[in-house]
Amino acid sequence: MMASFADASPYSIDIIPKTEIEVLNQEIAEDEAMYRIRARKRVHYLTIPVHPDPVFDEFTLCRPYLLIPKLPPFPNADWTKIRVFQSPGGEIKSDISYEPLSQIQSSWHPRHIDVLSLKRISSHNARVKEVEFEGRTVFSKMAIFEWWIPQVERETRVYEIIAENQCPDKPPIAPAFLGHLTEQGRTIGFLIENIQGDYASLVNLPECEAALRRLHSMGLVHGDANRYNFVVERSTGHVKMIDFEHAEAYDEEKARLEIEELKAQLTEETGRGASVMVVNGVEKRSGAAPIPYTYHADEN
Ligand SMILES: Nc1ncnc2c1ncn2[C@@H]1O[C@H](COP(=O)(O)OP(=O)(O)O)[C@@H](O)[C@H]1O
Ligand SMILES: [Mg+2]
Repeated sequence: MMASFADASPYSIDIIPKTEIEVLNQEIAEDEAMYRIRARKRVHYLTIPVHPDPVFDEFTLCRPYLLIPKLPPFPNADWTKIRVFQSPGGEIKSDISYEPLSQIQSSWHPRHIDVLSLKRISSHNARVKEVEFEGRTVFSKMAIFEWWIPQVERETRVYEIIAENQCPDKPPIAPAFLGHLTEQGRTIGFLIENIQGDYASLVNLPECEAALRRLHSMGLVHGDANRYNFVVERSTGHVKMIDFEHAEAYDEEKARLEIEELKAQLTEETGRGASVMVVNGVEKRSGAAPIPYTYHADEN
């Protein structure tokens, strides 16, 4: 369903004032710039072509305070996506879509928390943040754009399996799952307990291996068992694994390799842990390079 509001009279449609529009996340790729935008209490997804038919220069695209005033009107309605483009005559136009966005299907935990209700404390990257929840600091992870949904879905399911297989007489191998994160009722992420501690190193090899073997015994391999995904809890010394986006069903050979490579993973110092990313659904693994994302606004 598409509708064009570019020519609509501001008197016939309720329009959200620009002062109530805020960029929550942005990702500027070679061909397209993508934004997660809050307009009053709704979140919308904006795309603007960058190449071959640019609408704005890159300086503007990277700066929400310059971009927002140039955007076409945002109607006060339940639309999901907007595509801004330039007509052959040079006019800035927009297509608005009411198509529902994809969401995480797994909804195993009883709690559902609205993303916009959380106060951000700090950001690890565009998708992983420390937020305030019921008076304490916890971690949030979410699909800030639709193409992240499959990976966050996978991780959500892994937390379910870990919760189902928790042994009462052993410390948990992962942070406690606190609830699903929603955006207009759509599940897009989760909240987990904050493990206060340090990344594992070689001295923690036995505990890391034990945790990994317990995950294997639950029918899973971790898929990204690098040292930045093992946190040694300061208060207890227990090792907790995080980041199950690449987890897969147990496979003897994959499990064996994961254990075999653990020692080397715990020794490495390049910061590779934060280097797996997906751009438009394509997974990219780089060396020690930082995740290329741009962030400006006070995102949620
Ligand atoms: N529950 C948690 N407790 C403590 N630190 C966490 C937690 N979740 C994430 N982090 C921190 O955030 C970083 C990124 O989170 P992670 O889930 O590994 O995402 P990514 O897929 O970006 O690697 C971790 O390496 C760790 O430093
Ligand atoms: Mg990680």
